Amino acid sequence: MLEVATAAQLREVLNDWRGAGERIALVPTMGNLHEGHLQLVDRARERAERVVVSLFVNPTQFGPGEDLESYPRTLNDDRAALDGRQADLLFVPDEMVIYPHGRSACVVSVPALSDGLCGASRPGHFDGVATVVSKLLNLADPDVAVFGEKDYQQLMIIRRMVADLFMPVAIEGVPTCREADGLAMSSRNRYLNDDERQRAPALYRALTGVVRAMIDGRRDYEVILSEARNCLSEEGLEPDYVEVRRDDDLAPPGPADRHLVVLGAARLGKARLIDNVRVSLETA
Ligand code: PAJ
Repeated sequence: MLEVATAAQLREVLNDWRGAGERIALVPTMGNLHEGHLQLVDRARERAERVVVSLFVNPTQFGPGEDLESYPRTLNDDRAALDGRQADLLFVPDEMVIYPHGRSACVVSVPALSDGLCGASRPGHFDGVATVVSKLLNLADPDVAVFGEKDYQQLMIIRRMVADLFMPVAIEGVPTCREADGLAMSSRNRYLNDDERQRAPALYRALTGVVRAMIDGRRDYEVILSEARNCLSEEGLEPDYVEVRRDDDLAPPGPADRHLVVLGAARLGKARLIDNVRVSLETA
């Protein structure tokens, strides 16, 4: 696997590949790679001849008091994992490469989808995500870019940004990769101690409980969502939100909407867990 750190080096390698008629897939990450990230790499392999992985712990998507300094950095392990999945190129820029004119010189914002859910408790977070993803897409100019459904609101924001700014890239979403007990894999799961790790799957259980109630025909969302929040509290998780939304634009569902997603976030010790489960309801 090749490794580059500057925009010029990245462009040189990619221009060669593109010149040879090869398609390029980009997988943006913040490192500390787990099986969920590696499944994105596998999907990228299926979509293009060349797979580029970026690894950049993006400071602008962390709020004050969040875990920017302590975010796990495991570059050697990440390199080995990517080599094992046949990635072709690792792009590891430093902050000056991505923000040459400072962190707020230019900001990309998708307000329509960024204010609610995780955006409500992480103000500015999705502006940081949209900004860095725009920069990475402009730097690599890939045919396809691959993201996880685990971060569902992020994926919808990126899809909207790419569509609204006419960015010539296909966005591919990959289903959430879970531990055997249902917990969605996340770099932040390592913040959990043993006891918290035992309790963490309660988030997935609560979301699947809501989905089951919906499939059983219940539409009293306020009641089933508050039951789900109670389940979280009983397990010692501090619910941030549990919501049902339309799966394409994250708007609150109307009676005729069938393609929905149940999203949740909860605090557990030092970690903030997020997860979601999609559900398509039968037409009555
Ligand atoms: P990071 O948390 O490192 O995640 C990188 C990619 O891996 C994202 O697309 C995320 O949705 C996906 N991912 C994480 N856990 C997953 C899981 N359990 N199953 C499937 N996919 C999973 O998300 C980011 O970084 C950043 O916000 C980024 C997009 C790189 C911009 O900085």
